[in-house]
Amino acid sequence: MADVLIEVEAVNYSYRLSENCSIRALNQVNLKLERGEFVALIGQNGSGKSTLAKLLNGLLCPTSGEVRVSGLSTRERAHIKAIRADVGVVFQNPDNQIVSTVVEEDVAFGPENMGIPPAEIKKRVEWALETLHMLEYKHEFTSSLSDGQKQLVAIAGVLAMKPACIVLDEPTALLNPQSRQDVLHVLKKLNREEGITILLITHFMQEAIAFDRIVVMADGKICMDGPPREIFRQPGRLAQLGMDLPLPLQLALKLKEEGFPLPPDILTAEELVNHLCQLRS
Ligand SMILES: Nc1ncnc2c1ncn2[C@@H]1O[C@H](COP(=O)(O)OP(=O)(O)OP(=O)(O)O)[C@@H](O)[C@H]1O
Ligand SMILES: [Mg+2]
Repeated sequence: MADVLIEVEAVNYSYRLSENCSIRALNQVNLKLERGEFVALIGQNGSGKSTLAKLLNGLLCPTSGEVRVSGLSTRERAHIKAIRADVGVVFQNPDNQIVSTVVEEDVAFGPENMGIPPAEIKKRVEWALETLHMLEYKHEFTSSLSDGQKQLVAIAGVLAMKPACIVLDEPTALLNPQSRQDVLHVLKKLNREEGITILLITHFMQEAIAFDRIVVMADGKICMDGPPREIFRQPGRLAQLGMDLPLPLQLALKLKEEGFPLPPDILTAEELVNHLCQLRS
């Protein structure tokens, strides 16, 4: 039986700007995340992705509808501590999340707030930094790290809380391609080896295709939800929603227009090259 971790049910969210003016950011959103899922959330600017992320651990409370984590509603303030222990959120800019001057202190901050005993915190900090290949930096000043390393420290801080799920809101947006790869690699490892549910918000289609499931938002609604191959088989629909296609798929579609008999769901450069080589032989 499916083990549901997060349930978003008929959620509306409006930002209240003044007494008679508000912006509707989420419109009847329904979403279920099962334990162990590896999901990418994509959508145009302003489509509601970050708002949804903030609702998942109770940073925001739905205007109507309900978000439940392990069955606990985020509406109940008494549940918030347990919910935040289950769902950790990492944001785009690590500078806004790093709170201590030294790496190991920063990673310890979350578990300390949870009231974990010091000996256990020490173990978790070592484990989290080691998992993210950052152990050698544990005594460094956080200010001396690169953006990519800071983001890994921010993820380590969440990891040290041993959450069931990590939600990452464009954590790679400020990173160079190598650091972006490192972060993605780590996320996959946390998912596959530690069973941690991952929800990654990204603008990079090439990142999204590495996930098992892609959820597409537009205008405060979830418009598409499925495995990458199914999602990218609908290029017309994605274009309507203002989304790019992965570059190898763009090339494959152009080649198809020129008469090359290629399948409609090519996602990676490797797949494209393999199909072209098969045509040649
Ligand atoms: N603090 C806020 N106050 C008022 N309106 C907001 C606030 N945050 C977001 N909004 C509005 O809510 C809507 C959804 O914004 P949100 O930030 O959730 O989108 P997003 O998909 O994360 O966009 P991006 O890709 O640019 O990060 C947008 O219309 C945005 O302008
Ligand atoms: Mg956002």
